[in-house]
Amino acid sequence: MISYKLLKLQLLLILLLLQWTTARGNSHNKRSLPLLDPEKVTNETKSLPNRSTIPNYILDNCPMVHLNSEEKYYPIDIVEFIKHFKLTDAHNNTIRENLTIQDLKPIYVTRFPNGTKQYIPSSETFLTCLDDFTKDPSWIFGNKPSFDTGYIKNSPSLLIVVDKGNGWVDAFWFYFYAFNQGPFVMSSGPWGSHLGDWEHTLVRFHNGVPKYVRLSAHSGGDAYRFTSLEKLDTMGGVERRVIFSAYGTHANYASSGQFSHDLPSELFFMPLSDFTDRGRIWDPLLNFYAYRFDGVSFWPQGEREKELGVEWLYWMGRWGDEQLPLTDPRQTWFPIVQWKYVVGPKGPLFKQLDRLTICGNNKSKFRGGCFIRKLIKRGSGFEATEVENTGDGCGVLLYKIRPKWLRSIFRFFLWRGIVCYLMDYYTG
Ligand SMILES: *[C@@H]1O[C@H](CO)[C@@H](O)[C@H](O)[C@H]1NC(C)=O
Ligand SMILES: *[C@@H]1O[C@H](CO)[C@@H](O)[C@H](O)[C@H]1NC(C)=O
Ligand SMILES: *[C@@H]1O[C@H](CO)[C@@H](O)[C@H](O)[C@H]1NC(C)=O
Ligand SMILES: *[C@@H]1O[C@H](CO)[C@@H](O)[C@H](O)[C@H]1NC(C)=O
Ligand SMILES: *[C@@H]1O[C@H](CO)[C@@H](O)[C@H](O)[C@H]1NC(C)=O
Ligand SMILES: *[C@@H]1O[C@H](CO)[C@@H](O)[C@H](O)[C@H]1NC(C)=O
Repeated sequence: MISYKLLKLQLLLILLLLQWTTARGNSHNKRSLPLLDPEKVTNETKSLPNRSTIPNYILDNCPMVHLNSEEKYYPIDIVEFIKHFKLTDAHNNTIRENLTIQDLKPIYVTRFPNGTKQYIPSSETFLTCLDDFTKDPSWIFGNKPSFDTGYIKNSPSLLIVVDKGNGWVDAFWFYFYAFNQGPFVMSSGPWGSHLGDWEHTLVRFHNGVPKYVRLSAHSGGDAYRFTSLEKLDTMGGVERRVIFSAYGTHANYASSGQFSHDLPSELFFMPLSDFTDRGRIWDPLLNFYAYRFDGVSFWPQGEREKELGVEWLYWMGRWGDEQLPLTDPRQTWFPIVQWKYVVGPKGPLFKQLDRLTICGNNKSKFRGGCFIRKLIKRGSGFEATEVENTGDGCGVLLYKIRPKWLRSIFRFFLWRGIVCYLMDYYTG
């Protein structure tokens, strides 16, 4: 009987807490009209006046990036990167040499000596490196930001702005690095490295106010209320937000410390970690290519972008070599950790620019989860120990409860696991 009463009390408390937190959550988000598929945005529902508008609020709220202090591979300009590659097909035949960005197209036509044409979709093509990339050619390191401003003269970021209608606007900030150095496993490695590394941050605005942000990390990433991101006071007195890029993998996080990966299990079976810290700041706002995307077409915004054109954005190939075969002396395969070098990634077109939910359209709410967190998920180690809000989800939420005696009552009554999972879902 006693345990039954206790159970009822527990459930009551949980319900109260959920109500309290969701009520707080809802007051933040008074019924606004929904986001629309960008293709379906009309003159009546559009958020931006025309295709050549990049509103200032997007620029004012561009997050800065703390690169890792040990980072070797800094951002690179795609225009510089591509000079060191040729375009090949799935059989390692060369399609184009002496590449420029303008050589990247949705489809290729080659002509045989007998006059017949062959069409090669770009999805079956690769950028294949002219140098031995495993020997760290000098260009692979990219360019470091300047200490004082975070400006990288030779490495523009890429901004793609998508009008989602009803006042909603998505700003995708893409970061491009020449090389992704994979993790070490049991002091051997790195494993799973590849050429070409596209990462991004999505900032979602409603009526000019930054509401949500999603940080890319491997195949997933965390979403936050924009105002949860750490503030950084810049010299001009302008308040900017900051995110953290992990050593080698350039996965993005909202704080510094150690984070466990969510790499696809076919690649790794081991718990692996990313590391972020307060290394050099990169300010992507000081040098970027800007495009608008309307669900079908890309629209270049400045002179530089008009020169690059838009076809490269429809190129569906891999921004780095095909996975080296085992016969290649540079490749290694090892049980558990698998491949030393994996295939390069696909480009921005594959990042669901038309997404409605902030984590992407096919992330189910529970499995793979798209919680919009109010509180920053802290890494373990480093600074994390100094901060009260340690832990994620439930743990973080508990710290919000004051006074302390109330908090300990909640802690006592909340089972770990299920309840925390539910709370994470409702409160994030
Ligand atoms: C939308 O507005 C533009 C310019 O104001 C106009 O040219 C266009 O025809 C309008 N489209 C529709 C579907 O009404
Ligand atoms: C687009 O809208 C902006 C802001 O209203 C305006 O300044 C600009 O002239 C417009 N451009 C075109 C091509 O209509
Ligand atoms: C493609 O050819 C290069 C030599 O040109 C070789 O090093 C590489 O291993 C080949 N890749 C594949 C996937 O066969
Ligand atoms: C590519 O450039 C090299 C010199 O950098 C030149 O020798 C070669 O002929 C060029 N190839 C093509 C297909 O233009
Ligand atoms: C032309 O040559 C290609 C490649 O050698 C071959 O696959 C194709 O069948 C040939 N076409 C004709 C009409 O002979
Ligand atoms: C989304 O779903 C489509 C089709 O089901 C699939 O091809 C694609 O890889 C998925 N994308 C992500 C990011 O999971």
